[in-house]
Amino acid sequence: MAIYPIRQFGDPVLRQRAREIEDVDGALVRLVEDMYETMYEAPGVGLAAPQVGVERRLFVYDIGDGPNAIMNPVIVESRGEWSYDEGCLSIPGLSWNVVRPNEVHLRGISLDGEEIDIEADELLGRCFQHEMDHLDGILLVERLDVEQRKEAMAILRNRVLNVEPSVY
Ligand code: NI
Repeated sequence: MAIYPIRQFGDPVLRQRAREIEDVDGALVRLVEDMYETMYEAPGVGLAAPQVGVERRLFVYDIGDGPNAIMNPVIVESRGEWSYDEGCLSIPGLSWNVVRPNEVHLRGISLDGEEIDIEADELLGRCFQHEMDHLDGILLVERLDVEQRKEAMAILRNRVLNVEPSVY
C-alpha cells in the first residue's frame, strides 16, 4: 500500500471531468487500497480519484462505518437543505459554511460490480455531494457565496503564489 500526495488547489487535474470506469482490474483495486490509506493518513472522510491525480470516476469514503469505494456514481435525486461547515483535503486548513441539499440518493457500482443504491443525509449526504463535485472538476470554492468566495480567493491566490515550484 502506498500513500499518495493529495493534489492541491491550483493543480489543473482538479478541474477536469473524470472519465467513467469501464472495468475493474488489479491496478484499480490497488488504487482503491492506496486511496483508503491516503484518506486515513490525511485524515479525511472522503477522497476522489482526481485528488490523487487519477481522472477516473471513483471515490472512497468512511464516515465511521468502515471504508467504501463507489465507481461511476450518479446522484439521482436530492432533497431538503442542510448548512454544514465543509472543508476539502485539496484546500487544507480552510472550511466554509455551505448550504446544499440534505438528502441524496446515490447510485453507483461497487468494486465487485454490484449496483449500489444509497439514501444518504447529513454528513454522508454531504460527503457524496462533495466527492461527486470532484469527479466533475468542481471545487468547494465554487459552492461558496460571493463574500465567502472573495475571501477564499484572496487567501488561495496568496497560497498558490507562495508554493515553491518544486512542490508541484
Ligand atoms: Ni475535496
